[in-house]
Parts: sequence; C-alpha cells; structure tokens
Amino acid sequence: MKDTVSIVGAAHTDVNHDSAIKHVTGGADYTDDIALPQGALHAYLGVSDVAHAKLLGIDFAKVLATPGVVGVLTADDVPGINDISPTHLNDEPVFPTDTIQFHGQPLFAVIAETRDIARRAAELAEVEYEALPHALDPTEAQNAGYPYVTAPLKLERGDVAPAQAAAPNRIKSRMRVGGQDHMYLEGHIAFAIPGEDDDVVVHCSTQHPSEAQHMVAHVLGVPSNAVVVNVRRMGGGFGGKESQMNLFCVVAAMAAKKWNRAVKIRPDRDQDMTATGKRHDFVIDYDVAFDDTGRIQAVESSFAARCGFSADLSGPVTDRALFHADNAYFYPNVRLSSHPMKTNTVSNTAFRGFGGPQGVIAAERMIEEIAYATGQDPLDVRKANFYGTEDRNVTPYHQVVEDSILDRLVRELEETSDYRQRRQAIIDFNKTSPILKKGIALTPVKFGISFTATWYNQAGALVHVYKDGSIHLNHGGTEMGQGLNTKVAQVVAEAFQVDFGRIKITKTTTEKVPNTSATAASSGTDLNGMAALNAVEQIKERLVKFASENWDVSPEQVIFLANHVHIGEDVLPFDALIKQAYLARVQLSAAGFYKTPKIHWDREKGQGRPFYYYAYGASCSEVTIDTLTGEYQVDRTDVLHDVGRSLNPVLDKGQVEGAFIQGMGWLTTEELWWDDAGRLRTHAPSTYKIPLASDRPRIFNVKLADWSENRELTIKRSKAVGEPPFMLGISVFEALSMAVASVADYRECPRLDAPATPERVLMAVARLQNGA
Ligand code: MTE
Ligand code: HPA
Ligand code: MOS
Repeated sequence: MKDTVSIVGAAHTDVNHDSAIKHVTGGADYTDDIALPQGALHAYLGVSDVAHAKLLGIDFAKVLATPGVVGVLTADDVPGINDISPTHLNDEPVFPTDTIQFHGQPLFAVIAETRDIARRAAELAEVEYEALPHALDPTEAQNAGYPYVTAPLKLERGDVAPAQAAAPNRIKSRMRVGGQDHMYLEGHIAFAIPGEDDDVVVHCSTQHPSEAQHMVAHVLGVPSNAVVVNVRRMGGGFGGKESQMNLFCVVAAMAAKKWNRAVKIRPDRDQDMTATGKRHDFVIDYDVAFDDTGRIQAVESSFAARCGFSADLSGPVTDRALFHADNAYFYPNVRLSSHPMKTNTVSNTAFRGFGGPQGVIAAERMIEEIAYATGQDPLDVRKANFYGTEDRNVTPYHQVVEDSILDRLVRELEETSDYRQRRQAIIDFNKTSPILKKGIALTPVKFGISFTATWYNQAGALVHVYKDGSIHLNHGGTEMGQGLNTKVAQVVAEAFQVDFGRIKITKTTTEKVPNTSATAASSGTDLNGMAALNAVEQIKERLVKFASENWDVSPEQVIFLANHVHIGEDVLPFDALIKQAYLARVQLSAAGFYKTPKIHWDREKGQGRPFYYYAYGASCSEVTIDTLTGEYQVDRTDVLHDVGRSLNPVLDKGQVEGAFIQGMGWLTTEELWWDDAGRLRTHAPSTYKIPLASDRPRIFNVKLADWSENRELTIKRSKAVGEPPFMLGISVFEALSMAVASVADYRECPRLDAPATPERVLMAVARLQNGA
C-alpha cells in the first residue's frame, strides 16, 4: 500500500511551487485582485520636479476643483509622527514639510473616486519652491561636503602599512558599480480598510508586514494593536519591498481613516521607478598589494555609496558590502571603510544581495588585476587566494571561515565546464578572429547568511490541526515567488508525516504572528521553517503523550509514518488519531519560535560572528563580443551551487537560475541614468533594459552541489538560496572583460565599470586599441 510507505511532498523532494499553476493561469490573487468594497477611493502621489529645494507651499485649488477629487493629504494631515524611516533615524518624512530632497519625491497624495482622476489631478498642484544646489552622486556629494546618512563602518585586521611597503607589487584603482531597479512584475500597492475606533486593516505587497504595521501605527498615532497588515503574496520583491511599501501603506491608511472609506494606492510603473529606492551604486577605490605569485598581502578599499536623501537601509547595506569585500579570499592585512553618502536622489534600499554583490565584484576585479599583472590565468589567482580550512581562514570582521567547500566546488566546476581547454580554444580563436572576440571566466561566491542586525534573526509560526485532520500553517515569512511557503509546508508535512496537500498555506498577517522580521537576507526558510517545525513538535509531543497514555505504550512506540500513526501494534490513519485526541481535549494548535544560535556582532569593534554559516557557488561563463558595435552574447554558462541538503531541488534550481540572470542583468544591460537636473531618465522598460529570455546563456547548465550538507544545524541541513547565486552573474562581467582585453593581447586588465553595457564594452575596446 503506497500511502503507508511514503508521503507526497516530503522534504528534500521536488515539489512544484504551491501557486505555480495559479501564477501562470491568473488564478493567484494579488493585492490588486481584492474586490473593492462600496465607496472605495483611490490615492495617487504628487511628486516634486526639482532635486533640492526649499518647499514654500503647495496650491491645491485646481486639484480640489477637479470633479471626482475627494481631497488631498499633506504632511499637515499626519496625526502621529511624520516619519517612516525603517532605521528610526527620523530622517524620512511621509511627506516633507520644508525641504524637497530629490526629483520625484512624493509631496502629497490626491484622493479621488477613481485612480485615473487622482492621477490626473495630482499633476495640477502648483508647488512653490526655492531651488537649492544639489549633489547627485557619491563623488559630487563628497566634494560638496554632504554628510553620511548613517554611521560608516571600518573593518580592520593585521597591519596594512608595513605589508603594503614590503609587497613587491601594488595596484590602486577605482571602479564604479551601477545600481539596479527591482522591476518586480507587480509594483507597489496598498489597500486600507478602516474599522471601528482606531482600527485599520491594510492589504499590501510588503516583505515586512510587522514594520508596515508599526509605521502605520505611529504615523496614525495609534498603538500597533489597532493595525493589521496582510500579505497573501507579492509579484516579486527582491528587496524592493522590504521598506519601500511603508509609504504606500501609510498613505492608504491615513486616507482610509480620514474619509472613513476603503482606499487603494497603486503607482504606475514610471512613478514606482522614480519614487522608490533601488540598489545602491558604488564608487570603489581599491589598493591591493601582492607577491609575484599573485598572493594578496594587503587590501585597502573604500566603498562610497549613493544612498539618496535618507538612511533607509543604507547602513546595513553598506555594512554588507564590506562583509563581502573579501568574497572568497583571505586578506592577511586589510582595512575597509564604507562611506554611505547622502545624495539628492531617491533613497536607495535593499536589493538581492543587500550590498554584498558590490563588495564581491570589487574582490573579483582585484583578482583580475593581479592576474593580468602577473600574467596568469585568473582562476589560478583565485585559487591561490581562497580561504584555507586550517589557517588563512579569518575574515576582515574576524569571523573564522569553518566551512569552506570552494576548493572542491570550483575544482568540480572547472572539470565539468571544461574550463581549461575552452580557455585555450578561446585564446586561439581570438588570434584569428579580427572582429568577434571571446572571453571566459570562472568566478566563485561565498555569501554570509544571517541578518547582520542580530535581533532580526528570529521567527514565529502558528500551526493548527483541525479535527478533520487538515492542517493550517501560518508563519511570519512572506511569499514573493521564491517558494518559501512551499518549503515550510514540506517541513510540516515531513514532521507530521502527512501529504503536503493536507496543509493549507495561508496569508501572512500580523494578527497571527507578531513582531516578525522582513523576509529578507535569504533566511526566510531557515527561520520560518524552524519556527514551524517547533510548533509541529509541540503538537506532536501532546499527541504522543495522549497516544502512549491511552494505548498504554511507551512514547517511543508512537511513530508518525506515511499518513498514519503507529501506536504499539496498532496503526491508525492520522485523521483518526486527531479525532480521538480532540475528543480527549488535547490542544491541537501551537505557536512556534526560533532564533538563530551562535551569532553576535560588535559593530563598534568591527568584530564578531555576524553569519551563522556561508553559502557557496561558482559559475563559468563564455561570451562573444562584437568589437565594432560593443554588442555581445553569452554563449554558455555552467553553474555549480551549494544549497546544503536541498529542501526542494527544483525550487532551488529555479532560484539559482533566476538569481544568475538578475545578476547578469545588473552587470550588463541594466543602467540607471540621471540627468544633471537629477531626473531619472531610465524610468520604464522602454529605457531600462532587463534581460529577456533571448539574453539568457545559449547553453545554461545549472547544477546543485548535491554532496553538500550544512555543517550547522539548520532546517534539515539545508542552506539559504535566495541571494547568493545573484553574484554568479559576475562571471559574465569578467568574461566580457577578457574578451575586451584580447584586443590588446591581454597585456592589461581593461578599465571596465559596471554595467558593462554594449556602449561601455565598445569604449573599453577603443581605449585599448588606441593604447589609452
Ligand atoms: N525570488 C523570487 N521569485 N522573487 C523575489 O522577490 N527575492 C529574493 C530571493 N528570491 C525574490 C526571490 C530576495 S532579495 C531574498 S532576500 C529572498 O528571495 C527572500 O526569500 P527567502 O528568504 O525565503 O529566500
Ligand atoms: N539583509 C537583508 N535585509 C536586511 C538586513 C540584511 O542583512 N538587515 C536588515 N535588513
Ligand atoms: Mo533580500 S535584498 O534581503 O530582500
């Protein structure tokens, strides 16, 4: 009998995303699909058309005279605290009172009977202001004496100056690394329904329901217990909805309470792109000292980031850039500093990798520099600098790397991708091909898992077993397409030994699990999977106690197996035991909790163990460029990625593929461009190019390192997968760099900033051809 030997949808098996069919057939409900109640209103933001100015006043006469307009909201309408800073720095007003800080800054909201009316009327406000000088990028801001938006970080180990002095080789250079728009399919949206007294319910698309709840509460001036935030799913978040939804939730809630009607707000794509934050672009100055074999002796780097007008998450983002400025390499002597620069641009925010990718690419650039300087294959330089297992294993933040598997992982990828032979073939090809040039690169990634804000590393879950044996699962994490709900349900199915289909996955709500962290830092499954398991264990413990007492057997003789419960000699269907337990008044519901062990971080000292463990991966990409136009294509990519013991290989592979493509897009075609007035000119898919299906590698081999197992006691020994593979896209960038270098016989490492758009590739080729 099949159902007594196994369950459907256990951990470590391929289970489709629980909403996969609904995603592709239109059956999945998003916030915008919720039926509006009678009398619902719509809000739209009015934004500034100047980058920096004294705000003198706004004339709403024409707005208010528009038929269908119900009213406007400005800073004056904030009943509580006019601040939505996620880092509590009190530097991010809902709407400004006296200073405009960037072009496109929301200044007010129009509330109307329809979205179209609100949107058109928002254009009619007359904003009176006195323009001030502005600084748009980190270098301009530094020159203008702009402050940091938050305290910078320094990481230091060893003795840098003597190591630099003693080293036979030293390279100092600068690299600019661009930002990135999240381009989630579903944009920002919030829908608020007023209740009695102080109450309000907000349906929205946030990665961080507890923070949205807290923001709505303090902006309204009510306790958090008056506010409920619900998220069924997001149409993608990628970090862009970790803090940026606060504004929309707050505006919808303020309007709902003011007019006592349901209110929805949904910006169009252009406004979504101009009014909400993106990945931070960086200016990175590096100084690397190394010996003649290519081994690094000392690194001194500074990371200046365009943070925008407020702190938002720029502190932890720039911190994470420093935490990943070593990538996979041991720096015997190192000094790293962050410069989170205030600029008159939109406040930049979380984006997959959270500053980590900007650190990693700096490390990879230094490796390339060393390889060209010493005339070696960059892969050999990489290997020579990998963290050791016994020694050479301390990071710039003094955490010991205990679990490096890169030696094995990279060796395996090197073989399966046939790297060495292909590299030689490419060098031969380039000798005889005057216009088309090829390049190949194999780059590793090591990514630290845990929120660096230690207190964030906690989670809760709520599990109910109903008396018919069906199971209701709720946890604090949010679903954005990554498959978190599927994985957590697999954990619950496995623990109860029931089929996956018995578990109902429900919306995330602040009513069921309080004080949750953002679903971010790739730790959704690690944290919520453990919390859900903890809840299941509590219920199982009660069931075991009941069964052993009732059947008069020892607790060890009660075994959950394949939709049944074995109690001594008896075998009962799971449902039957549940029914009996209910009649015997056994509590069939539990709240679970989890906090990550072992981690600690002293930011002042720059020392600690911020990460529970590391996830590893490597990718090898081959590209062809056209030296007449700068255009290129990715011919082949091979990936080997470490997810520990995968909870769900098919979902994990999907994450790896998606992250690689998104990382490749960041470094190739996705370019954010502001004009001198501070206007973002790449504010729609017409001017901002994300990778298309046709841009994917022509050959794309993605494998999970199925021999890997997390040495820490994570959920089923798995590893986080959401962000680490994003940095696999760097192999495309470095392969492009090699193709460019070929035009000058690989004599020097090309100066190549990111994104390496066709234009930049062409200019880099021209520079080398002209010997500049
Ligand atoms: N995958 C999809 N499909 N959509 C997303 O928005 N966000 C990424 C990653 N994968 C994202 C995604 C980011 S930035 C993070 S931090 C993780 O998913 C968050 O989910 P997890 O912690 O459950 O992996
Ligand atoms: N990663 C992602 N999101 C975060 C973090 C982090 O380390 N800290 C705060 N929000
Ligand atoms: Mo991901 S940037 O941590 O939401």
